[in-house]
Amino acid sequence: MNDTMKILAGRTAADDLVKSGMKLGLGTGSTAVHVINRVGELFAAGTLKALAVFPTSFQSLMDCEKWGIPVFTLNSRELEGGLDLTIDGADEVDGENRCVKGGGGALLIEKLAAYASTSYALVADERKLVESLGITFPVPVEIIPEARVQAARALEAFGARAVLRAALRKAGPVITEHGNLILDVTFAESVDPVVMEDEINRIPGVVENGFFTRRRPVLYAARGDGTVEVRT
Ligand code: 5RP
Repeated sequence: MNDTMKILAGRTAADDLVKSGMKLGLGTGSTAVHVINRVGELFAAGTLKALAVFPTSFQSLMDCEKWGIPVFTLNSRELEGGLDLTIDGADEVDGENRCVKGGGGALLIEKLAAYASTSYALVADERKLVESLGITFPVPVEIIPEARVQAARALEAFGARAVLRAALRKAGPVITEHGNLILDVTFAESVDPVVMEDEINRIPGVVENGFFTRRRPVLYAARGDGTVEVRT
């Protein structure tokens, strides 16, 4: 059921938004993979041509490679630090299409892609829609290892609980693709995500946080009844 919604959101967004010749950011996670698969199908069929894709994680890089989608670094001559469009998943989306991302630990590059893009789109199923961000699903905060205790203390001063993300099938914490750690931060009550996005990044040792508020994406939200709400 949920997979059906993820497939629907991902394919609909890809069909609506991706055009030949685009510099395209492709996101991470179990919903964004369906965007990559649809782009891959259309690229393999020759319907989409001349794409230059920036994958936001090792996972999305491998998914692009499966389809032979041309991938580039953001610093490459092909992309020159800019993207026409990024499509990505989200962990929570509020009524103004602000979101929390980083459940898959890829928030740092996902934010780079989002903020480097002229257009930005999110794909999600209706379970991700919330009134207030950061209360139910924790906000990931990527920190350098040396800041583990100090940053957790500073985050808790915001009235939040900060938990070091533990690895599965490896003893100890998750180590990000950039050699950092993740604190998963749950707020006790509603906070202003615009303020918090800036405030958290002011803590020494914080690399990036999972509040995404400075882009107003178009949201493709799949419903259990088989429809997709496109919300701007
Ligand atoms: C990864 C992300 C994902 O986009 C987010 O966690 C949503 O994933 P899924 O579609 O699997 O629920 O931010 O860092």
